[in-house]
Amino acid sequence: MTNQTEPTTASSGEAGPVPRLRIQGIGRDFATRAGVTHAVSGIDLTIERGEFVALIGRSGCGKTTLLRMIGGLLPPSAGTIEVDGNNLWRGDHVDSRAVTKLGFVFQESNLFPWLSVLDNIALPMKLRGVGKTDRRARAGELAELVGLRGFERSYPRELSGGMRQRAAIARALSTEPELLLMDEPFGALDALTRERMNLELQRIVLETKSTVVFVTHDIPEAVFLADRVVHMTPRPGRIRQILPVAAGKPRSVDITTTPEFNDIVRTLRHDIDEED
Ligand SMILES: Nc1ncnc2c1ncn2[C@@H]1O[C@H](COP(=O)(O)OP(=O)(O)O)[C@@H](O)[C@H]1O
Ligand SMILES: [Mg+2]
Repeated sequence: MTNQTEPTTASSGEAGPVPRLRIQGIGRDFATRAGVTHAVSGIDLTIERGEFVALIGRSGCGKTTLLRMIGGLLPPSAGTIEVDGNNLWRGDHVDSRAVTKLGFVFQESNLFPWLSVLDNIALPMKLRGVGKTDRRARAGELAELVGLRGFERSYPRELSGGMRQRAAIARALSTEPELLLMDEPFGALDALTRERMNLELQRIVLETKSTVVFVTHDIPEAVFLADRVVHMTPRPGRIRQILPVAAGKPRSVDITTTPEFNDIVRTLRHDIDEED
């Protein structure tokens, strides 16, 4: 995972590559009529290039809030977030150059219904001024990468939920993000489609060498996909533990029956149940 040819931090003088993402002391409060909600508090997390990290925890433990702060959508109340060694936030202002390194996939695919699959995938490139020929060629490659070849001219309403999520993933990849942020991207899919999408995502991520932060509340999904599973607990949202998943990649669904896989799933399930 570590590549010694990557640039090192000039300011800190630390040895070794700059991590893709460094989160230090991140917190976020919300003022509500009932008082202040400490949605997220004291989060420290460093993610290396090419790493796949899953965030897991009960509903309301701050997963989405944390991801929105990393994604430049919500300013933190405290702490710092660095992407490739550069501060993402200065107060409430987001560094627009750092944001261009990020790709986001939400639970709902959020495709534009009036645009074809190809035009949806190509839209972020269009917004960045990539010429029509280039962006259509690239969008076609991405459609193929996510298994949508032959559906380039289809409209979102003509696709299944899984296909729409694939298009959303292709769109997020279109700007070659350094960091892919995914918030329960498969939460609305049936179990079989979800399993297929997990395999598909794993393949795409390995092929594009993407760094991923993936939010889910599905424990086996987290363990299957991740190099590390970050377990968060609520009120305030904090990291309770970080579990490494040693199994090599690519992984086949067969690993879900191994003792190592099930030990991690059981540990997480037990610890999350304990939160009641
Ligand atoms: N915009 C907001 N205003 C007030 N409270 C919020 C807001 N967004 C999230 N929260 C609160 O922050 C906590 C964490 O929410 P969230 O990050 O959505 O959790 P998760 O994604 O893990 O379900 C919850 O208590 C939620 O009600
Ligand atoms: Mg959420």
